[in-house]
Amino acid sequence: MSGKKIPVEPFKIKVVEPLEKISSEEREEALRESGFNVFNIPSEKVFIDLLTDSGTSAMSDRQWGRLMVGDESYAGARSFFNFEHSVKQTFGFKNVVPTHQGRAAERILFEAILKKGDMVPNNIHFDTTRANVEVRGAHAIDLAIEEAYDPDIELPFKGNMDVGKLESFINEKGSKRIPVIMMTITNNSGGGQPVSMENIRQVSQICRRYKIPFFFDACRFAENAYFIKKREPGYADKSVLEIAREMFSYADGATMSAKKDALVNMGGFIALNDDGLTEKIKNLLIISEGFPTYGGLSGRDLEALAQGLKEVIEEDYLEHRISQVEYLGELLDDAGVPIYKPVGSHAVYIMADRFLPHIPRPQYPGWALTVALYRESGVRAVEIGGVMFAKKDEISGKDVFPKLEMVRLAVPRRVYTISHIHYVADALVSLYKKREKIRGLKIIYQSPHLRHFTARFEEL
Ligand code: F0G
Repeated sequence: MSGKKIPVEPFKIKVVEPLEKISSEEREEALRESGFNVFNIPSEKVFIDLLTDSGTSAMSDRQWGRLMVGDESYAGARSFFNFEHSVKQTFGFKNVVPTHQGRAAERILFEAILKKGDMVPNNIHFDTTRANVEVRGAHAIDLAIEEAYDPDIELPFKGNMDVGKLESFINEKGSKRIPVIMMTITNNSGGGQPVSMENIRQVSQICRRYKIPFFFDACRFAENAYFIKKREPGYADKSVLEIAREMFSYADGATMSAKKDALVNMGGFIALNDDGLTEKIKNLLIISEGFPTYGGLSGRDLEALAQGLKEVIEEDYLEHRISQVEYLGELLDDAGVPIYKPVGSHAVYIMADRFLPHIPRPQYPGWALTVALYRESGVRAVEIGGVMFAKKDEISGKDVFPKLEMVRLAVPRRVYTISHIHYVADALVSLYKKREKIRGLKIIYQSPHLRHFTARFEEL
């Protein structure tokens, strides 16, 4: 055991969900039946689930209490006003529109403002954001700083946008073709790295200068704000709420997946200042999500969300949250397991191509590592690499692989204890010691879009 400071949970356990250990025969069978795709494995066959931190949070007793007082009226429910108040307190925007989750917020915002041929810059688009831009015939452009793609450079704010690139991009394409500039906090597709207040301010100034609206993809805003408090000069004495409010004060709005930093299992919203755009968004919302005072959510969901937003900015909570993820990273790093550095907000990202240098990219080392980890321990992780993000070259028909080949260990909020974290680290370290035995895979079935969810594989 390392001499590291163990993060102590700032909660005690009132309700438990039993976990069953899965025997190695069962794991083998689950792998075979799933076509060696951990997305296809039933969660009952998973011991520790690090597939995602989205919608997997444990709610507090106060949130569960709020479920009981949900007002399920179709229009004008009390729960909506509680939700609206809580979002306004935290985000500061004038208008709030609930949606059933983050991607619905993205779809509706983009439907309201994008047309064919438009461009949307972002530090790095998350895959649903990219898909929702592209489905409108627009182009999703990633303009993160170059260092974001280098797992070895330790910088405090590797999620930053490259403001030089952003400004040249606007000058080259013209601001008329750029209806919005997005910024993802924290940058999920780039190691879960935070963005600094200084960078937010600079991007905001550029947006103002060119009269382009500025929106956050805000699902991990509290984790981002906590990093600003810890790492950026001038913020140590400010509360996380003050920092969040300052971040949002530089923008015109935000899309939010409440499944992350609102500590609920389902929910989302769009928050924004522009009244005209809000009207347009509400009209689109009614067609698919529901009336503007519930937007696809129950009154009780809105209550739990309102409470979750208050809890997520508590510093004891955030200190534990961030240090638990960091601790997992340190356990792995100390044992020589190659990880993306520094450790991000919600997950540890393993550099799978370095973990398995004997497996060439066309045999999907990241995917092979998710299979091996499940086989070893019943731990489920997700590949963020060649299966998820490769693009077909139009001429050769071959895969063009993304820069980073990673496996993400996403840690659900308030769900696992420190012994679970040790279990995961031990499994990976033991796997690392016998890494030469791990084999690559070949795809035997794939769908044309988002193939990682349903692809089937054979081991080589
Ligand atoms: N934006 C970011 C940065 C995300 O990480 C996600 C979801 C979304 C938008 C979409 O939100 O799922 O509520 O529709 N990320 C999950 C993940 C799925 O595993 O990282 P949603």
